Amino acid sequence: MPPSTHPVIDALFARRSANARMLAGPGPDETQLRLIVEAASRAPDHGRIVPFRFLALADTARDRLADLLGAATREMMPDAPEEEIQRAREKAHQGPCLVGVLARIDADHPKIPASDQWLAVGCALENLVLAVQALGFAAAIRSGRFLETEAFRHGFGLGPNEHFVSIVAIGTTQDWPPAKPKPALDTVFGIWNG
Ligand SMILES: Cc1cc2nc3c(=O)[nH]c(=O)nc-3n(C[C@H](O)[C@H](O)[C@H](O)COP(=O)(O)O)c2cc1C
Repeated sequence: MPPSTHPVIDALFARRSANARMLAGPGPDETQLRLIVEAASRAPDHGRIVPFRFLALADTARDRLADLLGAATREMMPDAPEEEIQRAREKAHQGPCLVGVLARIDADHPKIPASDQWLAVGCALENLVLAVQALGFAAAIRSGRFLETEAFRHGFGLGPNEHFVSIVAIGTTQDWPPAKPKPALDTVFGIWNG
């Protein structure tokens, strides 16, 4: 990490993923969560299409979420052993606060390519996790093929242009996983001389 230069730069360098299984309370309260989502929605968004939205997954809906995760796993792996189903179901109960990140992509938009819309969703996701950490919490992003299963899509009533991008578990952790290696600057930065 470079010497401290600016709080935003510091926050970017300090961001890291938590392990969802290691997240405990407290999570953000409602005011904090609203701030986190508002910060997320400040993402750059070509055409101001707002291709993202966020769903706080209520504690009272965790059993229902577990059912959907179990059903999604069965759909992907009809012969999955019961332990596999249980592992999937447990994710509904990991982390004191769960937020769904959803995309609505207009593939036929006359001006804004779908790729730009997806990038706006990615920016919103990054904003979200940065805001989580700025408030002193930790975030774990979860995604996977289960999000595109019929069981999951139907369970959340997704429209044909909608995609459930990830479930972000938010909480507090004393047990951060080791920092992940990051690309050396020279491998991602060059100069185009024409
Ligand atoms: C769209 C997206 C989906 C992700 N899905 C998962 C996931 O399913 N499981 C997981 O452990 N991490 C997931 N991650 C987090 C990455 O694994 C993590 O960012 C990467 O390992 C780098 O670690 P860091 O975030 O600590 O820098 C996801 C990240 C993104 C951007």
